[in-house]
Amino acid sequence: MDPKDIVDNIKEKFGDMFYVGPKGVIGIDIGLSAIKFAEVSLQSDGNYKINRYASVDLPEGTIIEDEIQKEDEILQALQQGIKELNSPNKFACIGISGPNTLIKKLQLAGGTPEEIEDQVTWETEQYLPFPIDEGNLSFSVVSENQGGGINVIIGAAKKTVIDSFKSTVERANLKVKIVDLNASATINVFEAVMGDEVKQKDKTWILMDIGAQKTHFMIYKGGVLAFFKEVNIGGLTITEEIQRQMGVNYKEAESLKISGDGSGNIPEEIMDLINQVLDSFFNELKKTIDFWVNSTSEESFDGCVLTGGSALIPGLPEALQELFETEVQILNPFSTMAYNQSNISEDMINEIAFKGVCAIGLAMRSLPK
Ligand SMILES: Nc1ncnc2c1ncn2[C@@H]1O[C@H](COP(=O)(O)OP(=O)(O)OP(=O)(O)O)[C@@H](O)[C@H]1O
Ligand SMILES: [Mg+2]
Repeated sequence: MDPKDIVDNIKEKFGDMFYVGPKGVIGIDIGLSAIKFAEVSLQSDGNYKINRYASVDLPEGTIIEDEIQKEDEILQALQQGIKELNSPNKFACIGISGPNTLIKKLQLAGGTPEEIEDQVTWETEQYLPFPIDEGNLSFSVVSENQGGGINVIIGAAKKTVIDSFKSTVERANLKVKIVDLNASATINVFEAVMGDEVKQKDKTWILMDIGAQKTHFMIYKGGVLAFFKEVNIGGLTITEEIQRQMGVNYKEAESLKISGDGSGNIPEEIMDLINQVLDSFFNELKKTIDFWVNSTSEESFDGCVLTGGSALIPGLPEALQELFETEVQILNPFSTMAYNQSNISEDMINEIAFKGVCAIGLAMRSLPK
């Protein structure tokens, strides 16, 4: 198929990779450590409300990067989560990420819609790790640039990855209406929660989703995503180090990392291992920041916002504050979003605030902004 035809077939709005249905959708984030489910509605005051939430832990190694390794285990977790969520909704928006996806801001010469599509196809081809006709691609023109051209954000994913996630979720009797990029879902929540503070033209923010197998590092500038990088370090890197060094299994290592000796104290030897991994994490982040500074000559940030379960690593926000030389805060969806108190208990709030952001963003995808 001619790459141009692929672009011709897609809608121009970023994120509308596929069909957006009229009804709300259940946002499903299949992460390495757990599958999270969220249902969100838009209230008459313009604020979002989290109506339902569920999370089901996944056993070790069910997915590696964007490849499903143990489909039956994922199916089981999906079925359990759908039951716990107890929603009458049968439509889903699922998120994907990993090496066979791409989200990127491009500077193009601009021109007629046909010329722009040609430029998008040509440029995207150079960044995609797979042939363009094996992927789905969407883009949106976000602004004009100083040289008289345009800035465009592209999103792309390999069809086989989309299909494998989609068919697994559909085996659990849901209809997948939207497939989105996880990073784009996180940005949705970031924009809804932070509002005007981050959207101003001269503001530059760092947004990070620190998960289990990877970290999404994003720079958000002047109200749009300006830079994205997937760093292959996350909470799992620490867990695996604990497994190796302490001779324990995955579950025991997770528990040592999160609960320590059982009374909430993390033993010193575990803290040493955590710090070892953090050292290489910070090196990676430092290189990424240097790359940004070198290519834009912009050295300062207006703030940094964290999400993801590994943002709970003791001392991490403070250490990042020092590294980025800007204030670091946790993205708290509850600061602007209401929630249904009969479905969501107080003790789920913390879990949702850290680990549920991507699922919430996916659930927001069919709602007007
Ligand atoms: N209190 C805690 N202290 C340290 N790490 C924690 C804590 N709670 C959770 N984590 C870690 O957070 C990670 C899970 O976070 P999250 O749910 O955001 O990841 P995920 O979405 O499953 O992974 P990914 O996005 O990389 O596929 C795990 O590595 C877990 O060990
Ligand atoms: Mg995640």
